[in-house]
Amino acid sequence: MNNIKLSGITKVYDPGKPYEVVALQGVDAEFECGHSYAVMGASGSGKSTLLNILGGLDRPTKGTYSWGSLRMDTMTPKLLTRVRANNIGFILQDYGLIDYISVLENCLAPCIFAGKKRSLAKREAVNVLEMLGIIGLANREVKKLSGGQKQRTAIARAIINRPNLILADEPTGALDSKNADMILQVLLSLVNERSIVILATHDAAAAQRCNHILRIKDGKII
Ligand SMILES: Nc1ncnc2c1ncn2[C@@H]1O[C@H](COP(=O)(O)OP(=O)(O)OP(=O)(O)O)[C@@H](O)[C@H]1O
Ligand SMILES: [Mg+2]
Repeated sequence: MNNIKLSGITKVYDPGKPYEVVALQGVDAEFECGHSYAVMGASGSGKSTLLNILGGLDRPTKGTYSWGSLRMDTMTPKLLTRVRANNIGFILQDYGLIDYISVLENCLAPCIFAGKKRSLAKREAVNVLEMLGIIGLANREVKKLSGGQKQRTAIARAIINRPNLILADEPTGALDSKNADMILQVLLSLVNERSIVILATHDAAAAQRCNHILRIKDGKII
């Protein structure tokens, strides 16, 4: 099983500078396949930093990150890019979509990047857009969407390659309760024996629906 193990993960931004920030301090955690996790904590406690490290967008200053037999913290940038493209779906706090292309083209990007044929990618995009209730928006430019529609597009793009690690930073932040509910249902339905879903959230009701809640305070798991 490709479980995740973090040992002594520390992240210092701008180390040695007078304005350095210790965002994570010796985080030990394990994430098991087939489970969902909510990371909760006050603003600035280190949730996004933790997700960024898990997603390979950033590296820890100290500590080890293993995922199955992979050592994510010491992996070459080239391999890390490949692991990210094929195995990790990341829903960023600010969506990270390309504004001037359509919903469909945004969803196709990770498939093309992972080397899939456009025709196959398109079939898969149509599937996820249907699942998220935004197939009707497929050809609309992202800049013309509402916040909630962008959020769903970001989710569609993150899950299109069927990643086995799904990271979602405040996935229900911009949504009303009905849509938040739908999104959570979709995200949690992606948990299977080979996958792990981890969300960072302020929303206690959303966190309760995950199998586990990790609380983080000043960069430490409490
Ligand atoms: N790129 C960066 N450079 C320097 N400091 C940073 C950077 N990103 C985050 N920080 C700092 O690290 C600490 C943790 O930030 P982080 O974004 O992980 O918090 P968070 O728990 O996600 O907060 P929020 O709930 O507001 O999203 C904060 O003090 C923040 O100011
Ligand atoms: Mg954050």
